[in-house]
Amino acid sequence: MLSVMLQRVRTTITRRVAPGPALALVSLPAFCFATALGLAETGSANAAEPAKAGEALYQAHCTACHGETLEGEKEWQTPKDDGTLPAPPHDDSGHTWHHPDNILFDYTKLGGKEAMRRLGVAIDLSGMPGFGGVLSDEEIWSVLDYIKSTWSGRNRDYQRDRSRKN
Ligand code: HEC
Repeated sequence: MLSVMLQRVRTTITRRVAPGPALALVSLPAFCFATALGLAETGSANAAEPAKAGEALYQAHCTACHGETLEGEKEWQTPKDDGTLPAPPHDDSGHTWHHPDNILFDYTKLGGKEAMRRLGVAIDLSGMPGFGGVLSDEEIWSVLDYIKSTWSGRNRDYQRDRSRKN
């Protein structure tokens, strides 16, 4: 649900800001920079620390729906009888890595309905609860760090690049 709606939002934005030559000039170096940074981070000994703290939080708060190995619910693309979508996987097989940081953060902190409302998309239903009252902002970022640590380098680079442009 999120990916379809975001695609729609994204298409609107792209149309509004027609990618002129200036944008092309800016985005290519930005992409190279992100890639270089990605390589630098892979080599850092501290990079795994926040992800470790996040793993414990993930196990405590997210596995009930997104699965112990981030595999999501069965047939996650088919809506349930109540109209909500099942929880998607957070690993490479899902679409979490398609979304920029601010959206992943809002979705986790505010829940699906409120996060989409802030994006200007009204949805009646979302099975994703908000964790704002349960986890601090720092804890939410560390759960997200853990999720990201399971992605392939290519998907991490893609998501980092999208987050910069957002
Ligand atoms: C009660 C079940 C449930 C729990 C617990 C839960 N989620 Fe979700 N989550 C969902 C569902 C269902 C969706 C799909 C929402 C939609 O269609 O709006 C979702 C979507 C998301 C998304 C949107 C990104 C994407 O790939 O669609 C993020 C990010 C997310 N969850 C993070 C988390 C994190 C982090 C935790 C633990 C702190 C968590 N969720 C716990 C049910 C849950």
